[in-house]
Amino acid sequence: MSGLLVVEGLGRRYGDLAALDGVGLRVEAGARHALIGPNGAGKSTLLNLVAGSLRPSAGRIHFAGRDVTGMAPARRARLGIGRTHQHPAVWSSLSALDNVLVAGRRPWGRLRAGGRARALELLASVGLDAATGTLAGSLSHGQRRQLELAMALAGEPRLLLLDEPAAGLAPPEVELLAGLLAALPDTVAVLLVEHHLDLVYGFADQVTVLHSGKHVHTGTVPETRSSPEVAAAYAGVAP
Ligand SMILES: Nc1ncnc2c1ncn2[C@@H]1O[C@H](COP(=O)(O)OP(=O)(O)OP(=O)(O)O)[C@@H](O)[C@H]1O
Ligand SMILES: [Mg+2]
Repeated sequence: MSGLLVVEGLGRRYGDLAALDGVGLRVEAGARHALIGPNGAGKSTLLNLVAGSLRPSAGRIHFAGRDVTGMAPARRARLGIGRTHQHPAVWSSLSALDNVLVAGRRPWGRLRAGGRARALELLASVGLDAATGTLAGSLSHGQRRQLELAMALAGEPRLLLLDEPAAGLAPPEVELLAGLLAALPDTVAVLLVEHHLDLVYGFADQVTVLHSGKHVHTGTVPETRSSPEVAAAYAGVAP
């Protein structure tokens, strides 16, 4: 089966609500794939299902040729699925450096003895070289997002799931983020959930659109921009 991540017929119900309804998605190795859609479309649900923090009601998830549908999140992380969250998840009382070191030393982490130099390198790569000793709780919201990216990269993922990394960022911070995303190594495939469409269209080579839990469209950026189905999904919604 080709495709680093292959999702088939994926569904998740909450009582009567189909948060995700029979969605298929394929992310190739090294791809820049964006997942967009109005609020409540099911984007975070899909990321949580792929990361394993949520169990599906239907469908299968294959990663790197293995069926990971029933696999615990830590095992998936060990296989190379890294993520950031819609609300940044960092340890406030630890320094930025310690956050990356701890993230890298989790059971699935690959930062071993001597990982300090690598952690500093990762912090520099996300623009936090001047804040390595700062407590995460004292960082700005944008800096916490940068830190979470460094923490995810410490696991050396082959697939990085990013849930709204630009949310709450000021325009100059969004520009910084765009630069960071553009500089990610092409050994890492990215599945980017984002409402900031300028960022998406500047970044992605494939765009998938969800609406009310259903797959609406997958295509290139020009195909997505000119798709009537995508326009209809966003009709009446300020994207
Ligand atoms: N724990 C839950 N219990 C009940 N309903 C939920 C739960 N989590 C999500 N939902 C519902 O599932 C649907 C999809 O939610 P999801 O968070 O995946 O949307 P989203 O596309 O990420 O939206 P946003 O852009 O606002 O983050 C929404 O209708 C949401 O209210
Ligand atoms: Mg969401």
